[in-house]
Amino acid sequence: MNVTIIGTGKMARGIATRLLAGGHSVTLVGRETSKATELAISLTPAAKQGARVLTARFGAPIADPIVILAVWYSAAASIVQQYGAQLAGKILIDITNPLNATYDGLATAPDTSAAEEIAKVAPADTIVLKAFNTTFAGTLVAGQVAGQPLDVFIAGDDAEAKATVSRLVTDGGLRAIDVGPLRRARQLEGLGLLGITLQGPLGTGFMSAWKILS
Ligand SMILES: NC(=O)c1ccc[n+]([C@@H]2O[C@H](COP(=O)([O-])OP(=O)(O)OC[C@H]3O[C@@H](n4cnc5c(N)ncnc54)[C@H](OP(=O)(O)O)[C@@H]3O)[C@@H](O)[C@H]2O)c1
Repeated sequence: MNVTIIGTGKMARGIATRLLAGGHSVTLVGRETSKATELAISLTPAAKQGARVLTARFGAPIADPIVILAVWYSAAASIVQQYGAQLAGKILIDITNPLNATYDGLATAPDTSAAEEIAKVAPADTIVLKAFNTTFAGTLVAGQVAGQPLDVFIAGDDAEAKATVSRLVTDGGLRAIDVGPLRRARQLEGLGLLGITLQGPLGTGFMSAWKILS
């Protein structure tokens, strides 16, 4: 499967590493072509089973059926609006943790989530999913923490789209967990915030992971 990632930062690197390891091709979209090219070159060794790493300039037409928004929440809505109708019929994955200015709370109201707000500005038939907001970038590059595959929690209202993204996650060596409808993004974003606030006290340096054990 081919996946477009908008953003060329830490999460773009982490998610692309797992997709490529699973044999899925990625197109990296950056505002600065040089950053996308640099990331593509460094990711190429991670590509397995014929997967390819491509780049595209920001704003160019998107051909892939899955688009990951690997940008900050403050930039997400305007990017979705810029792409507009191009996102119609696609799966759009929101990975953001919508932190407030002091990083000790969420910028979103309690009765909504970043994912739901992004869905409001996307075309009506864009399928918005929440995923990857609780997995730190460095742990995605590693693919595991303490010998355990990462859990990737996926929220959304379309079962088929969640199954598709779950396959990508599993192919990359991670465990996908369907947590329910898109409104579960509210809890996932709370979990993301909690994970961030715990890094200092625990001294885990953003290399810890949330894991369901049984
Ligand atoms: N880092 C983590 O461990 C982690 C974990 C879970 C979730 N997240 C979430 O993942 C998202 C990305 O985090 P990150 O750590 O990857 O951040 P990052 O390393 O700072 O990368 C952010 C990327 O967004 C791009 N960008 C910013 N504003 C943009 C705009 N208006 N239009 C197009 N591109 C824009 C940046 O491009 P330029 O380089 O050109 O500025 C950069 O490539 C955030 O929402 C964060 O909450 C992060």
